[in-house]
Amino acid sequence: MLATVHLMQEEMLMRDYKHWTKLAAGSAVVVLAITTASWAVTQEAGGAAITVYATPTCGCCTKWGDHLRANGFDVTMELVSDLTQLKVSHGIGSELTSCHTAFVEGYVVEGHVPAEVIERLLEERPEVAGIAVPGMPQGSPGMEGDRHEAYEVLAFDREGTTTVYARR
Ligand code: CU
Ligand code: CU
Repeated sequence: MLATVHLMQEEMLMRDYKHWTKLAAGSAVVVLAITTASWAVTQEAGGAAITVYATPTCGCCTKWGDHLRANGFDVTMELVSDLTQLKVSHGIGSELTSCHTAFVEGYVVEGHVPAEVIERLLEERPEVAGIAVPGMPQGSPGMEGDRHEAYEVLAFDREGTTTVYARR
Protein backbone atom coordinates (compact mmCIF):
# COMPACT_ATOMS: atom_id res chain seq x y z
CA MET A 1 0.00 0.00 0.00
CA LEU A 2 2.70 2.46 1.01
CA ALA A 3 4.76 1.49 -2.01
CA THR A 4 1.80 2.12 -4.35
CA VAL A 5 1.23 5.60 -2.93
CA HIS A 6 4.87 6.32 -3.31
CA LEU A 7 4.86 5.20 -6.95
CA MET A 8 1.80 7.31 -7.73
CA GLN A 9 3.47 10.36 -6.25
CA GLU A 10 6.56 9.74 -8.30
CA GLU A 11 4.50 9.41 -11.45
CA MET A 12 2.78 12.71 -10.72
CA LEU A 13 6.09 14.39 -10.10
CA MET A 14 7.42 13.08 -13.41
CA ARG A 15 4.36 14.38 -15.24
CA ASP A 16 4.82 17.78 -13.60
CA TYR A 17 8.46 17.76 -14.49
CA LYS A 18 7.80 16.99 -18.16
CA HIS A 19 5.14 19.65 -18.26
CA TRP A 20 7.46 22.28 -16.81
CA THR A 21 10.43 21.42 -19.00
CA LYS A 22 8.17 21.73 -22.04
CA LEU A 23 6.97 25.13 -20.81
CA ALA A 24 10.50 26.28 -20.06
CA ALA A 25 11.73 25.26 -23.50
CA GLY A 26 8.80 27.12 -25.06
CA SER A 27 9.48 30.35 -23.20
CA ALA A 28 13.19 30.15 -23.96
CA VAL A 29 12.31 30.15 -27.67
CA VAL A 30 10.03 33.16 -27.14
CA VAL A 31 12.73 35.06 -25.21
CA LEU A 32 15.26 34.28 -27.92
CA ALA A 33 12.86 35.52 -30.60
CA ILE A 34 12.23 38.79 -28.74
CA THR A 35 15.96 39.32 -28.13
CA THR A 36 16.75 38.73 -31.80
CA ALA A 37 13.97 41.09 -32.88
CA SER A 38 15.15 43.96 -30.65
CA TRP A 39 18.74 43.34 -31.71
CA ALA A 40 17.67 43.65 -35.34
CA VAL A 41 15.91 46.96 -34.59
CA THR A 42 19.04 48.33 -32.83
CA GLN A 43 21.22 47.28 -35.75
CA GLU A 44 18.92 48.96 -38.25
CA ALA A 45 18.97 52.24 -36.34
CA GLY A 46 22.74 51.83 -35.91
CA GLY A 47 22.08 53.38 -32.54
CA ALA A 48 24.31 51.96 -29.85
CA ALA A 49 23.70 53.80 -26.58
CA ILE A 50 26.80 55.66 -25.39
CA THR A 51 27.16 57.72 -22.22
CA VAL A 52 29.74 60.50 -22.33
CA TYR A 53 31.18 61.96 -19.10
CA ALA A 54 32.57 65.42 -19.60
CA THR A 55 33.07 68.67 -17.70
CA PRO A 56 30.45 71.40 -18.25
CA THR A 57 32.92 73.82 -19.88
CA CYS A 58 34.33 71.33 -22.42
CA GLY A 59 33.41 72.54 -25.91
CA CYS A 60 35.24 69.80 -27.82
CA CYS A 61 33.43 67.18 -25.71
CA THR A 62 30.06 68.54 -26.88
CA LYS A 63 31.36 68.52 -30.45
CA TRP A 64 32.49 64.90 -30.12
CA GLY A 65 29.02 64.01 -28.81
CA ASP A 66 27.52 65.70 -31.89
CA HIS A 67 29.88 63.70 -34.12
CA LEU A 68 28.64 60.46 -32.54
CA ARG A 69 25.00 61.54 -32.92
CA ALA A 70 25.58 62.38 -36.57
CA ASN A 71 26.84 58.80 -36.97
CA GLY A 72 23.73 57.25 -35.44
CA PHE A 73 24.78 56.78 -31.81
CA ASP A 74 22.26 57.32 -29.05
CA VAL A 75 24.30 59.80 -26.97
CA THR A 76 23.75 60.78 -23.34
CA MET A 77 25.98 63.57 -22.02
CA GLU A 78 26.73 63.46 -18.28
CA LEU A 79 28.33 66.67 -17.06
CA VAL A 80 30.52 66.28 -13.99
CA SER A 81 33.02 68.66 -12.40
CA ASP A 82 35.84 66.13 -12.06
CA LEU A 83 36.58 62.99 -14.09
CA THR A 84 39.73 61.87 -12.30
CA GLN A 85 38.14 59.22 -10.10
CA LEU A 86 36.09 57.84 -12.97
CA LYS A 87 39.21 57.43 -15.10
CA VAL A 88 41.23 55.83 -12.31
CA SER A 89 38.49 53.34 -11.45
CA HIS A 90 38.24 52.23 -15.10
CA GLY A 91 41.95 51.62 -15.60
CA ILE A 92 42.54 54.66 -17.78
CA GLY A 93 46.20 55.44 -17.03
CA SER A 94 47.56 58.98 -17.31
CA GLU A 95 49.21 58.10 -20.65
CA LEU A 96 45.74 57.40 -22.08
CA THR A 97 43.68 60.27 -20.71
CA SER A 98 41.85 62.88 -22.68
CA CYS A 99 39.05 65.37 -21.97
CA HIS A 100 36.07 62.98 -21.80
CA THR A 101 35.33 59.36 -20.87
CA ALA A 102 32.50 57.37 -22.47
CA PHE A 103 30.90 53.97 -21.97
CA VAL A 104 29.34 51.86 -24.70
CA GLU A 105 28.19 48.24 -24.40
CA GLY A 106 30.70 47.38 -21.68
CA TYR A 107 33.64 49.20 -23.27
CA VAL A 108 35.40 52.39 -22.18
CA VAL A 109 35.97 54.98 -24.89
CA GLU A 110 38.45 57.68 -23.86
CA GLY A 111 38.96 60.85 -25.85
CA HIS A 112 38.26 61.87 -29.45
CA VAL A 113 37.83 58.38 -30.94
CA PRO A 114 36.19 58.47 -34.40
CA ALA A 115 32.69 56.96 -34.57
CA GLU A 116 33.69 54.40 -37.19
CA VAL A 117 36.40 53.02 -34.90
CA ILE A 118 33.82 52.58 -32.11
CA GLU A 119 31.58 50.79 -34.62
CA ARG A 120 34.47 48.47 -35.48
CA LEU A 121 35.05 47.83 -31.76
CA LEU A 122 31.39 46.86 -31.30
CA GLU A 123 31.57 44.59 -34.33
CA GLU A 124 34.83 42.84 -33.48
CA ARG A 125 34.33 42.85 -29.69
CA PRO A 126 37.98 42.27 -28.76
CA GLU A 127 38.91 41.26 -25.20
CA VAL A 128 39.98 44.74 -24.10
CA ALA A 129 38.74 47.20 -21.51
CA GLY A 130 38.41 49.94 -24.06
CA ILE A 131 39.97 52.20 -26.65
CA ALA A 132 41.51 55.64 -26.30
CA VAL A 133 42.86 58.58 -28.22
CA PRO A 134 45.19 60.15 -25.65
CA GLY A 135 45.47 63.93 -25.50
CA MET A 136 43.44 65.93 -27.98
CA PRO A 137 44.91 65.58 -31.49
CA GLN A 138 44.11 68.37 -33.93
CA GLY A 139 41.78 67.15 -36.66
CA SER A 140 40.22 64.33 -34.65
CA PRO A 141 36.38 64.32 -34.41
CA GLY A 142 35.39 67.24 -32.19
CA MET A 143 38.82 68.84 -32.68
CA GLU A 144 38.35 69.96 -36.29
CA GLY A 145 40.48 72.83 -37.54
CA ASP A 146 42.84 73.54 -40.39
CA ARG A 147 45.46 71.15 -39.09
CA HIS A 148 45.33 67.34 -39.07
CA GLU A 149 47.71 65.67 -36.70
CA ALA A 150 48.35 61.95 -37.24
CA TYR A 151 47.18 59.99 -34.19
CA GLU A 152 46.62 56.47 -32.93
CA VAL A 153 43.60 54.84 -31.34
CA LEU A 154 44.97 52.59 -28.61
CA ALA A 155 43.24 49.53 -27.19
CA PHE A 156 43.95 48.91 -23.51
CA ASP A 157 43.22 46.24 -20.92
CA ARG A 158 42.90 46.37 -17.13
CA GLU A 159 46.56 45.39 -16.71
CA GLY A 160 47.68 48.52 -18.50
CA THR A 161 48.75 46.81 -21.74
CA THR A 162 48.11 48.93 -24.81
CA THR A 163 48.12 48.04 -28.50
CA VAL A 164 47.47 50.17 -31.58
CA TYR A 165 43.88 49.56 -32.70
CA ALA A 166 43.66 52.14 -35.50
CA ARG A 167 45.63 54.98 -37.07
CA ARG A 168 44.18 58.21 -38.40
CU1 CU B 1 38.52 67.34 -26.19
CU1 CU C 1 36.10 65.83 -24.68
